[in-house]
Amino acid sequence: MALYGAAAAVLSGLEAHQGSLKSLVYSSRFQNVRQLYALVCETQRYSAVLDAVIGSARLLEAEKKLKPHLAKVLVYELLLGRGLRGGGRWKPVLSRHKARLQAEFARLKVKRCVSRNEDLLESTPGAVQEARLPRFVRVNTLKTNLSDTIDYLKREGYSYQGRASGPDELRALEGKLFFLDSLLPELLIFSSGTDLHKHPLYQAGHLILQDKASCLPAMLLAPPPGSHVIDACAAPGNKTSHLAALLKNQGKIFAFDLDAGRLATMATLLTRAGVSCCEIANEDFLSVSPSDPRYCRVQYILLDPSCSGSGMASRQLEEPGAGTPSQARLHALAGFQRRALSHALSFPALQRVVYSTCSVCQEENEDVVRDILEQNGGAFRLVHALPLWPQRGLGTFPGAEHCIRASPEATLTGGFFVAVLERADGKSSSPEPQLLAGEPVPSVAPKKKKRRRQNASTT
Ligand SMILES: C[S@@+](CC[C@H](N)C(=O)[O-])C[C@H]1O[C@@H](n2cnc3c(N)ncnc32)[C@H](O)[C@@H]1O
Repeated sequence: MALYGAAAAVLSGLEAHQGSLKSLVYSSRFQNVRQLYALVCETQRYSAVLDAVIGSARLLEAEKKLKPHLAKVLVYELLLGRGLRGGGRWKPVLSRHKARLQAEFARLKVKRCVSRNEDLLESTPGAVQEARLPRFVRVNTLKTNLSDTIDYLKREGYSYQGRASGPDELRALEGKLFFLDSLLPELLIFSSGTDLHKHPLYQAGHLILQDKASCLPAMLLAPPPGSHVIDACAAPGNKTSHLAALLKNQGKIFAFDLDAGRLATMATLLTRAGVSCCEIANEDFLSVSPSDPRYCRVQYILLDPSCSGSGMASRQLEEPGAGTPSQARLHALAGFQRRALSHALSFPALQRVVYSTCSVCQEENEDVVRDILEQNGGAFRLVHALPLWPQRGLGTFPGAEHCIRASPEATLTGGFFVAVLERADGKSSSPEPQLLAGEPVPSVAPKKKKRRRQNASTT
């Protein structure tokens, strides 16, 4: 894979909350890992600046086939890096826009009263905020259990502080202290500076580096072991591996994604996580037939579609109006999101669907859910998800408060949105998920369990 494409794939993986820059770089197929790492880090560092320049130059509107992550990498190289070397068919395209991009970049510097590129970074709130958020780590119960993990970490000098009681103690989290999350079982919380990418438990798939908000969809879908689940837009697969853990690898996950490169990363990730109940398909979810007998037992669908990623801290606004997804882009994304949610609801045995995005835009969240509920004329209802969660859906329609929002300010996570829809006449064959009913998860006093051997193969 060429450097720019590989860097774009890593950025895309980060946006999808796979969570670890290093692991994505190492699992990419690009051989010069150092070169790739440096390019991704620098592009990330200037992410908000690049969003602003790309937005004001209207590059993505003019070049509809240019994907946002690739655009960001190319524009970084063009304006801040070593100039475009390679770039294939995009090189002449970027050359056409070079003057405009340079002008917008210069305009931004004038506006900020800075002359050096570095000085543009100082007022990049997203990057600063992201760096200060705690690190969330999901214990992969397909490979280990909470108690063994905590013991292992303690032997290494980490200090376990029990269940976290509130955001203030997490804001103050430092050094080798770590907590158990107050609402999510098996989610550990470390200080912002903690880097576990090289940790043997991570390398062995016992730990999954996953933002807390990104753990909500699978947890709220709560498929019982033995059930059949569709993960409609699955790659790179952190939520799929979470689903497999909830299923205890019993039952079936049908995982679809359009992007073959991301699916390749996903296959590696699932194998490492010990997932053996998942069938991966490089298919458009919209063309998966609900009447196909293979899906006749599917009662649960997780829909985490492509979105603007506006909730990712590094993409947050650097100044009012700059870096926000354009109305045209939001419109196109919301169109796809509506079609995908509507399609999910057409599976005949469906009981519950979780819809999630890492966007903070109402157009991609509450508006999509409202329209699809209206369209379905009462066949599905919104479930009041996780009542103890502090941040709720924007009150744009009656019942929107049943949805969940997440943000760096309120929940110390990336910006996120989750809605849980259930069939209204559902004689739910599955247990009501405790987290929908508002109960906190049982207090942790983890008992030692025997570790089971898992089949590492992923079909
Ligand atoms: C937000 S990411 C999914 C992240 C994933 N759920 C996870 O937790 O790792 C959205 C994914 O949707 C995929 N996608 C976009 N359109 C699709 C479609 N029509 N059918 C299937 N997948 C699609 C993209 O390739 C991308 O990998």
